[in-house]
Amino acid sequence: MSDDTAKTDKHPTGAPWRNFYGRLKGKTLKQSQQTYLEEDLQALSPGAVDWDANPERTPIDLNALFGDKPVWLEVGFGGGEHMVHQAAQNPDTGIIGCEPYINGVAMLLGKIRKAGVENLAVHPGDARDMFDVLPEASISRAFLLYPDPWPKKRHHRRRFVTAEHLEPLARVLKPGAIFRVATDIPDYVRQTMQEVPKHGFDWLAEGPDDWRNAWDDWISTRYEQKALREGRTPHYMTFRRKDT
Ligand SMILES: C[S@@+](CC[C@H](N)C(=O)[O-])C[C@H]1O[C@@H](n2cnc3c(N)ncnc32)[C@H](O)[C@@H]1O
Repeated sequence: MSDDTAKTDKHPTGAPWRNFYGRLKGKTLKQSQQTYLEEDLQALSPGAVDWDANPERTPIDLNALFGDKPVWLEVGFGGGEHMVHQAAQNPDTGIIGCEPYINGVAMLLGKIRKAGVENLAVHPGDARDMFDVLPEASISRAFLLYPDPWPKKRHHRRRFVTAEHLEPLARVLKPGAIFRVATDIPDYVRQTMQEVPKHGFDWLAEGPDDWRNAWDDWISTRYEQKALREGRTPHYMTFRRKDT
């Protein structure tokens, strides 16, 4: 970091320093996955999201992307199975997914080819950069499915359910929008139930066992399958963005 950037706490592009602690790349991509990235990713771009392409943080044009369809957002789609499932079930909706792990992005692209769905856009990066450029009150539904658990107490502030993420999420959601969270970590349930309502959301408790019942339109994700194999219990929480 140069002295100047240290003083301003910003990148030379004007971007804030945003620490990302997850993985960006895993094992070597298959040739087919390289091809998906080279041939398909650009056409699925939601617009200028990255700081170097959009230093003014001009909001992206969701109408140009999806017409007047309601727009949903999935944060950290992993291998993309839930995103493609929802896109196929809801053709009258546009879904934007964010995922910095490039192997996951490549897996999603393979699934998009197979399913032939066309109502998706992909930001291969951090959801925080996406929040910057989404118009206020533009998103009708958001999914946070098995976010990175960060089990150690000193790492809890890295979790998604913190003000750094929840404030901009609340800003881009429409009043009444649904926000779904799934996790297999009991302490993540605790932090979610504590933090999300502080940022303008009501928890929709629909029954005593609400958080043990998956949603009707649910498809189990890769991470959930791993959690089940390892003996952990899924929890499902539904929130509604308050009317402002
Ligand atoms: C435990 S995995 C779960 C993946 C998938 N949702 C599933 O259920 O299989 C969490 C994912 O969140 C992604 N992630 C972490 N921080 C993120 C951020 N700031 N923006 C978008 N995705 C993020 C990670 O790269 C990782 O793929």
